[in-house]
Amino acid sequence: MLLEGKAAIVTGCSGGLGSAIAAALSDQGATIIAMDLKVEKVEQACEAVRARGARAVHGIVMDVASPRSVAEAFASAKQKVGKLDILVNNAGVREIKNAFDLSPEEWDRVIAINLSGPFYCAREAALWMRDTGGGTIINIASVAGLTAISHRPAYTAAKHGVVGLTKNLARDFAPANIRVNAVAPGVLRTPMTQDYYADPEFLRGLKHSVPFHDRGEAADIGRAVLFLASPLAEFINGVTLPVDGGWLAEKSYASPEASSFFSAGSST
Ligand SMILES: NC(=O)c1ccc[n+]([C@@H]2O[C@H](COP(=O)([O-])OP(=O)(O)OC[C@H]3O[C@@H](n4cnc5c(N)ncnc54)[C@H](O)[C@@H]3O)[C@@H](O)[C@H]2O)c1
Repeated sequence: MLLEGKAAIVTGCSGGLGSAIAAALSDQGATIIAMDLKVEKVEQACEAVRARGARAVHGIVMDVASPRSVAEAFASAKQKVGKLDILVNNAGVREIKNAFDLSPEEWDRVIAINLSGPFYCAREAALWMRDTGGGTIINIASVAGLTAISHRPAYTAAKHGVVGLTKNLARDFAPANIRVNAVAPGVLRTPMTQDYYADPEFLRGLKHSVPFHDRGEAADIGRAVLFLASPLAEFINGVTLPVDGGWLAEKSYASPEASSFFSAGSST
């Protein structure tokens, strides 16, 4: 077991990726502290972890966008586990609107949850970890943290911010023996993206632009987080790891129909 005796906080733990991350960590022996916005979500997350045979799981209701709620949640976690080894900043929301149409309130909400939240949680975690010998923090960014995705100005800005924050925290927290890395998922089917998969145009684009389009599931993000959280990644600090089936590797000029200069000779 890679994480025997370790304790891990996962925010947004009842969501599609959050539950896969909690499963991957608890399957390797970690105690899970599941944090989410609503009591029913937290209960659902705890139940899912217990159903896998986990010995230890705790649930805490909190709002990552509120520094006060974050401080209270970490104080409560301290009473439950004493020592924290892993924080996964996974909670996130998305707003699909053109920059002409996005209101300042919608901008603020996405930035507060997706960028300020990871900072508030990382800070609380690092203060705690510093007192207990160190630990590791993994931020769930997005491919939208490495390139723009249209109609998501706040999401793209927040996720680029998470990538930068990851680098900064990796340097600031290193003296306290805390590693900080990020995972940048490509699009994967979860409650957040469920509607995409009902759209034939999206599925056609996915097939065209993602080399391994027919693979890819939430569990892939769980495995990437497990690797970065484990001793296997002991010398890895400050990186953002894309887990996207190769989507970022090339943004093709070819259309899906493509017989063009960019797809001539292709075998598919
Ligand atoms: N699904 C994808 O394709 C994809 C791709 C790239 C990045 N991501 C990122 O992965 C993370 C998880 O996404 P998902 O697809 O599992 O989404 P999801 O909607 O299934 O889950 C998000 C979870 O975050 C929780 N949450 C939202 N606001 C919160 C708040 N203020 N405080 C605490 N919890 C809150 C929700 O209750 C939910 O449980 C997000 O950061 C998202 O941006 C997802």
